Amino acid sequence: MASILVLNGPNLNLLGTRQPEVYGFVTLEMVEDACANHAAKLGLKVECLQSNHEGALIDTIHDAKGRHQGIILNAGAYTHTSIALMDALISVEIPAVEVHLSNIYAREAFRHSSYISKAALGQICGFGAQGYLLALDALAAHLKDAGAA
Ligand code: DQA
Repeated sequence: MASILVLNGPNLNLLGTRQPEVYGFVTLEMVEDACANHAAKLGLKVECLQSNHEGALIDTIHDAKGRHQGIILNAGAYTHTSIALMDALISVEIPAVEVHLSNIYAREAFRHSSYISKAALGQICGFGAQGYLLALDALAAHLKDAGAA
């Protein structure tokens, strides 16, 4: 069974209480539970992890090699700043889908650019927590096409 790493970056541990008018009332635990349930329906399994530290996120991406067949990444604010995270994703050659709860293009200009996009299969943003499930659908289809799931 293919395994998907669901990786969340800085401040996403505060989901549910952090700017709910932007990010909604769903907690990270609820997001992770929904991912596990949805993955099971797709014949996939997930491992979920969150860190506020750039280096820890990079280590987790490196460790994913050989363990996970896909990555769903919401890198939070590192999306807009971290060449190192982009390089890590490129290095491991694991298909990745970038997720954002909010529509980053409808927000401040500094959120309009993403280093992660340069290393991802695609990006889903603006659909709240549902975006993680859409990303699972996208990865399931991609892995099926690639004959990997
Ligand atoms: C975010 C968007 C980022 O700009 C922001 O820094 C976040 C959350 C989102 O999920 O909408 O922390 O990635």
